[in-house]
Amino acid sequence: MGNIIFIHFFLLGLLPSSVLFPLVYGQSQQGFISIDCGSNSSYTEKITGINYVPDWSYIDTGRVRSIPSNRILSDLERQLWSLRSFPQGKRNCYNVKVKVGTKYLIRASFLYENYDAQNTVPEFDLHFGPNFWVTVKLGLPQTIIHEEIIHITTSNNVKVCVVNTGNGTPFISALELRPLENVSYETVSGSLSTYMRLDIGANNNTFIRYPDDVYDRIWSPPVPISGWVQIQTSSEVNNNDNKGFKAPSSVLNTASTVADASAPMFIPWGDPDQSTKFYIYMYFAELQTLQPNQSRTFKIYNNGKLFYNRDVSPAYLNENVIYSPAPLSINATHEFTLVMSQGSTMPPILNALEIYKVMNFDRPTTNQGDVVAIESIKKDYKVTKEDWQGDPCAPKTLAWGALVCKYDASDPPTIIGLNLSSSGLMGEISRNISNLAKLEVLDLSNNNLIGPVPEFLAEMPFLRVLNLAGNNLSGQVPAALINKMNKASLSLSLDGNPNLHVTATNEKKNDILMPILAAFGILTGPVMVQPHSPQNSHIEPQSHGPLDQHPRRRYLYADILKMTNHFDTLLGEGGFGKVYYGQISNGTEVAVKMLSPKSGQGYKEFQAEVDILLRVHHRNLTSLVGYCNEGDTKMGLIYEYMGRGNLGSLLGGKGEVLRWKDRLQVALDSAQGLEYLHNGCRPPIIHRDIKSSNILLNEHFQAKLADFGLSRAFPTDGDATHVTTKVVGTPGYLDPQYYISFRLTEKSDIYSFGIVLMELITGRPVLVKSGEISHITKWVDFNINQGDIYSIMDPKIKESCNVNSVWKAVDMAMACTASDPTNRPTMSQVVSELKECLNLELNHGNDRQVDSTMSIASTFDNELGPVAR
Ligand SMILES: *[C@@H]1O[C@H](CO)[C@@H](O)[C@H](O)[C@H]1NC(C)=O
Ligand SMILES: *[C@@H]1O[C@H](CO)[C@@H](O)[C@H](O)[C@H]1NC(C)=O
Ligand SMILES: *[C@@H]1O[C@H](CO)[C@@H](O)[C@H](O)[C@H]1NC(C)=O
Repeated sequence: MGNIIFIHFFLLGLLPSSVLFPLVYGQSQQGFISIDCGSNSSYTEKITGINYVPDWSYIDTGRVRSIPSNRILSDLERQLWSLRSFPQGKRNCYNVKVKVGTKYLIRASFLYENYDAQNTVPEFDLHFGPNFWVTVKLGLPQTIIHEEIIHITTSNNVKVCVVNTGNGTPFISALELRPLENVSYETVSGSLSTYMRLDIGANNNTFIRYPDDVYDRIWSPPVPISGWVQIQTSSEVNNNDNKGFKAPSSVLNTASTVADASAPMFIPWGDPDQSTKFYIYMYFAELQTLQPNQSRTFKIYNNGKLFYNRDVSPAYLNENVIYSPAPLSINATHEFTLVMSQGSTMPPILNALEIYKVMNFDRPTTNQGDVVAIESIKKDYKVTKEDWQGDPCAPKTLAWGALVCKYDASDPPTIIGLNLSSSGLMGEISRNISNLAKLEVLDLSNNNLIGPVPEFLAEMPFLRVLNLAGNNLSGQVPAALINKMNKASLSLSLDGNPNLHVTATNEKKNDILMPILAAFGILTGPVMVQPHSPQNSHIEPQSHGPLDQHPRRRYLYADILKMTNHFDTLLGEGGFGKVYYGQISNGTEVAVKMLSPKSGQGYKEFQAEVDILLRVHHRNLTSLVGYCNEGDTKMGLIYEYMGRGNLGSLLGGKGEVLRWKDRLQVALDSAQGLEYLHNGCRPPIIHRDIKSSNILLNEHFQAKLADFGLSRAFPTDGDATHVTTKVVGTPGYLDPQYYISFRLTEKSDIYSFGIVLMELITGRPVLVKSGEISHITKWVDFNINQGDIYSIMDPKIKESCNVNSVWKAVDMAMACTASDPTNRPTMSQVVSELKECLNLELNHGNDRQVDSTMSIASTFDNELGPVAR
């Protein structure tokens, strides 16, 4: 009984909500994460009843500070009393465990109040993981800023970082995460940041949040607009809408209308950045009891065009929400106008308004496995490097020191080098190092490491440099490691570990002896042994390779310098090396790929590529203009220039959206290129690395296969399969059957091609390292079983394509990725199916195409009547 009376008083504005609600609602903060930065204990905040925890378990840097006690006014919520400041380090991050795939409202709050007695309000950046979020501009010392985003989590942790931009010491007062219902605030793509959230018609200057708002959104009182008048009711407004918006009754039960009934209500807003896209949510509820001869209906216009295609007539004491399902991006200013309909006797009303900006947090985070591994290593060795904060590799400018990251347009960044030499490391060699799956270089020299040299180091497939010198390691060196060194695939340095032993293995002793002696620094030569690598042995005698059989296409390094203007325009970077833009003497544009001497791939791939490209010619294979081969630092390949870049970055990027029919054309082009390799070449060629980043598009969006470095030609001597010794390819695209059996067939390429098709259909990354459904085949399979083709289509192309052609493409992608290779189609079958798909799509034409700025719907239909409960 008591709380009903309290609510009643509150609604009349007689009592502040402060004393009343904690007792009533204190327990229901399900899923809330409420962090008071700089606090030293947990507590229940008195005004809101929210339970806060201190922040020390979410961050290990920064200094605890608090605002001066004379600035703590009675209505200042306690989480803003203290703060954490970051005088050290460029980036400092909170690391919060969350549930994957949950839509959260995430809020960072800031109140300066001259806590540092410097009287200078700092300005700094806020990052969300590797992505820029916003520049925090406080203006006045007393300003409270809440920066908010609505975001669906893609991994089981969220990193919120403050970044020093040279304009004062960053700090943060509070960090709050609130789970929302997944159906609320849906976007076509991207996350949202709060632009405004107004309790229109509020009659005092209070902010409304939890417990009134079950999601703890903060509703601000509006700026008064002349000509508007307030109306309100003391009755409860039902907010049980089916989209989970649930604006609080205390927000909905006040509204504004116009004093002059015939005048329209103008709601102007704008953003100087023309590229900004918005989502708008308008809340309505009738608050007055209308007589039989009274009615309130009105129309909503946006910049003079009908926004919602019916008359609006808010239901009595029931929340109605009108919003656009697609983002608005008409121009820099928007003017919403609510105009009384003909025959209506009452003017329009508006109860609440939310506007959100679209945020594209699309910079990839470092491979999740690597993140977990390096964070564990950081913990194991208590590494306190200032820049070891936030995402290890992203953004590139804030990547952790002591790491070497590999950036590839189509894959998340990976860690390929770790150098913790002379870092005071103690204890044993961390097992977590083995989880850095792509590690190539590991330097732990000159520390105080003890214990054995672990076996796992020999099992790391890409490791080629290992320096453990100058520690106090003991025991036997694993034989497998010595073998690797002898096979010249590993440069190993172990000297300066007096208690380390090697017993000769059962391999040929003479071969082993010398390198081992060298590794221990017993020889008088260099301490670090550089094994004679296959690269070197191939390069030195430059007279016999197949390259020399094509002197006409051979360019000098000086020519390369000239055509690339001394490498002034970098186009991209891959495992092989860097790719530069160039022009040859007749003006033809080219892309010049320079082989990096340090690259994981090497001269063999270089040779394979030249060899194949000089032999095969097809309109859907990139053509080789020439090559350069002058010593190991001056090897380059000159290709025709493909102006639109690779398919992977086109699909993942922000630029032009490839329409469905363009995607089908790209699929057909690539399929024809691959069909030629399989069936048009004698012996047939297996590409072995089909993936979206190896499909390049020219100015006219014509697609061509690239990167033949891993390709192999096989003699057609009856046996259709070929046993290979080493599995190569790209994770995610690699045929699992090939992986298991080591038997390479054309069907492995078809599997990879099926994956590319899935990317074209869904626009999704092939591997999502977090979450339960990690591989694209699993995801497609799962969603197709729900029978909804739309749920798997790339949201960017959904609107405008023929469902039948999509179904056909999906069926084919599934067939290509069948786990039994014999059930996969041949490339010729794929080509003819894709032609049919494209025909279906072209015949269907553009009649259903919908202009996204006009495709405005609403939940109004569902929510018009009182909601039955
Ligand atoms: C509606 O009816 C009431 C009497 O029931 C009358 O006083 C009032 O003027 C009418 N209003 C309009 C707009 O016709
Ligand atoms: C690791 O860093 C040290 C010191 O910065 C440097 O001397 C050494 O060459 C590095 N090791 C490797 C393998 O690059
Ligand atoms: C190296 O480790 C051994 C134990 O294996 C220990 O007795 C010795 O004192 C250590 N030496 C140094 C320099 O720490």
